[in-house]
Formats: sequence, C-alpha cells, structure tokens
Amino acid sequence: MNFETPITIALSKGRIFEQTLPLLAHAGIEPLDDPETSRKLIMDTNHPHVKLVIIRATDVPTYVQWGAADLGVAGKDVLLEHGGEGLYEPLDLQIARCRLMVAGAAGASLEGNRLRIATKYVESARRFFAARGQQVEIIKLYGSMELAPLVGLSDLIVDLVESGNTLKANGLVPLEHIADISSRMVVNKASWKMKHGTVMQLLDALQEAIGKAA
Ligand code: PRP
Repeated sequence: MNFETPITIALSKGRIFEQTLPLLAHAGIEPLDDPETSRKLIMDTNHPHVKLVIIRATDVPTYVQWGAADLGVAGKDVLLEHGGEGLYEPLDLQIARCRLMVAGAAGASLEGNRLRIATKYVESARRFFAARGQQVEIIKLYGSMELAPLVGLSDLIVDLVESGNTLKANGLVPLEHIADISSRMVVNKASWKMKHGTVMQLLDALQEAIGKAA
C-alpha cells in the first residue's frame, strides 16, 4: 500500500494493540516503537505518512470524533458508552471478543424496581434495564465491579465476561447477556470523505487480514 495521504490511527495499549498489530502488518504498517516500553504517545511507522497515537481505550472515540485521529480501534463496549456521535463504524475487527453481561450471586433476581447495579458501563446498563421497563439505581465504578455485590454495594453488576474466571473466583455467575463485544475500526466522518481512497485501501487490507485469521 502507498499512503500518500497522511493518516493517524488511534490505538490503546495492551490487548487491543497486540491483536491489532498483525492486522496492520497485513496492511503493510509496522510501528517503529513498542508502546509497552516506549513512553511516546505519537508513534511513527514504517510509512512516513502513517502515525499511531497511543491513548486510553475510552478516549479513542473522542479523538476520532474530533478528527484528532482519522481512524481508531475501539471496543464495542466503549462505543456503546460513547454513543458513536461523529463516527462511522465500518469494520468489525473480530478481536478482543467477550460479552457484556449482567452478573450476580447464583440465583440473584433481575426483577424488581430499585435494584442497585454497579458498573463501568452506565449507558449500556441503563438502556438494558429501561428496555425491560425497570427503574434501577446505577452505581458508577471504574473497575473491580465483582467486589460490589460481595460487600453489599450493589445487587448486581454489569461487566465484561470473557472466560468467566473472574466471576467464578468471586462466587458470582453470569445471569443475562446484554451484548456481544469485539473491537471495531471507527473512522472520523470528515476523514471518511476527504481521505476516502486511503481509508478504503486500509479497510480493505484489514478486511482481508481478518478473513485470513478466521
Ligand atoms: C475485565 C472485566 C472482568 C474480566 C473478565 O477486566 O472487567 O473483570 O476482564 O474476564 P474473564 O471472564 O476472562 O475473567 P479487565 O481485566 O479488562 O480489567 P478492568 O477491571 O480494568 O476492566
């Protein structure tokens, strides 16, 4: 691929970065630094016109929405919270897959109108219970949601479940499926128009890489 138009791709460190790397490599893009060891926030690649910005996962949609990055890789969980304003979501990268679930003690009830739900995923939790016609109290946490029911902070939690090991280790069980989660490529709406050729070239190469990985 020849990237004549400069593009910036927003990525978060850790799992998303590691799993996106082989897909980008298929598109011929290779970072010149390792975000696990480098403190650099703007990373050069083997293409002078392609830069990566390394930011918090929850900030990816914001950078792309405001055009500070043309594209970004964001979990569907993060996109559901952000709302997707100013973004296109053209490609499911099928990485970092898990489920957004309601969980609690075995036999805990989802019924009732003043249930307390501890979660990082406030918007998804609110929408899920509203769709069931339930008014619940949402308690916003930033991590370790599994602790909340154990210490009486909440009746239930809404959290990501991958293997189920974290729930199990804390004596909790998954109770209800809310959404299947995976990472998506998001594109700024202006970049989609102004840099269409380059964006499409990249999306096509990524799509091909996903096909091969499947
Ligand atoms: C996520 C999630 C659960 C755990 C689920 O946390 O919040 O705690 O992974 O995975 P499992 O079903 O395979 O046990 P993560 O490690 O991403 O950290 P976080 O608490 O910062 O979200």
